[in-house]
Amino acid sequence: MIRHFLNLTDAGPDGLAAMLDDAMTRKAARAGWPKGRIDADAPLAGHVLAMIFEKNSTRTRVSFDMAIRQLGGTSIVMDAGSMQLGRGESIADTARVLSGYVDAIMIRTDDHAKVEEMAAHAGVPVINGLTDASHPCQIMADLQTILESGKALPGLKIAWLGDGNNVLASIIEAAGLMHFDVVAACPQGYQPTEADVALGRGRARVVGTAAEAVEGADVVVTDTWISMGQAHAETKLAAMMPFQVDEALMARAKPDATFLHCLPAHRGEEVTEAVIDGPQSLIWAEAENRLHAQKAVLRWCFGQIG
Ligand code: CP
Ligand code: NVA
Repeated sequence: MIRHFLNLTDAGPDGLAAMLDDAMTRKAARAGWPKGRIDADAPLAGHVLAMIFEKNSTRTRVSFDMAIRQLGGTSIVMDAGSMQLGRGESIADTARVLSGYVDAIMIRTDDHAKVEEMAAHAGVPVINGLTDASHPCQIMADLQTILESGKALPGLKIAWLGDGNNVLASIIEAAGLMHFDVVAACPQGYQPTEADVALGRGRARVVGTAAEAVEGADVVVTDTWISMGQAHAETKLAAMMPFQVDEALMARAKPDATFLHCLPAHRGEEVTEAVIDGPQSLIWAEAENRLHAQKAVLRWCFGQIG
């Protein structure tokens, strides 16, 4: 069975726990090393990861590239627009062809059905590097960051503010698997779908006000109000404004609450400068952990852990 990582459920609670443990162990083992030095055991020596981007990326692109290199492998990074994919070659044919050249494929795209089609026709593991529906790699880094801050996942309360988007869907999915609670405050018309809420297996709920969501929260999370591929609509920005994360809102969460944001951020929109650049923000650790968490995802895909 090929191990695809299209959503967090593909790995299950035990797989996720094993990956998080591996990510933290390997991160500690190479502390202070130059970024380009290969891990001592080079567990993916000889392996090639191909990456396909149909949307922009900084973190996912560079962290996956460095992840496979640190594991001893190499990468090929492609923008879909410069591939035959960009002029109509099917995902299925692309998957079959690439499977003869490389050992794993990461794809960032719009319609989630495309990553499923890629996986259905690939002879190698396929990894979801973000779709309109989910962003599982991001949530691996988020969970790692939470654990490293000294918080345990079971029983944790995460507050989500703003758009009911792909990142929220994956946080809810993680909540169902790892037994923590998510309270999302999203304006009418921008709430997560019922199917997304159901991913939380009873651990997720949607409320109408920001204050209600953050009350007693251990972690406060937000994201851009306009995701990639969405129109820049003034009406949406106006609807989101009461859900901005500012210092007054953070003060309603637990005193030791941490702030997370997958980035890129829009200071003055979904979060104020004082919060994102303030003492409770762990965004730089979160961004760095994309590298460490994705090394674990790659190792899981190759059956080395979990
Ligand atoms: N958080 C995240 O996925 O960032 P990029 O869009 O830069 O990859
Ligand atoms: N929700 C955002 C996340 C970017 C990493 C988007 O899809 O654009």
